[in-house]
Amino acid sequence: MRSFRYLVLAGAAVAVLASTILAGRAAQTDDEYLGLPEAPGREEVAIYCGACHSLRIVVQQGQTREGWAELLDWMYEEQDMPLLEPDDEKLVLDYLAKHVGPDTHRQRLRDRGVLR
Ligand code: HEC
Repeated sequence: MRSFRYLVLAGAAVAVLASTILAGRAAQTDDEYLGLPEAPGREEVAIYCGACHSLRIVVQQGQTREGWAELLDWMYEEQDMPLLEPDDEKLVLDYLAKHVGPDTHRQRLRDRGVLR
């Protein structure tokens, strides 16, 4: 039964290795979005709001829906941002309001140990 035991150990080692590699991949993919949680609208925010500047400038702020809507208007009016389709605009604003709001933003800073 000795060889069986080695087989089990080797299998376990492969499983640990595979999960380490997969976890590394997942972390990398998440990093693309700078820690923004996966939800409808994330892709649109990354594409539309990362087009002219880094997404970092977006995730650094925490705004209410009104705050984001004002910023978006400013982006349209002063920064020559092309108008988004109404559906896309709603997706983007909903996502930002929910996941990059004043509270979620503070929570993220707390998670990183910047705020208590
Ligand atoms: C067409 C280009 C363009 C697009 C697209 C764009 N931005 Fe901007 N944005 C800018 C420019 C340029 C600045 C910097 C202006 C400055 O600092 O003078 C800026 C600055 C910002 C700032 C910093 C404002 C501050 O407090 O100084 C935020 C936040 C921001 N953008 C959010 C967004 C969001 C959210 C989106 C997507 C909905 C977006 N941007 C899409 C051009 C763009």
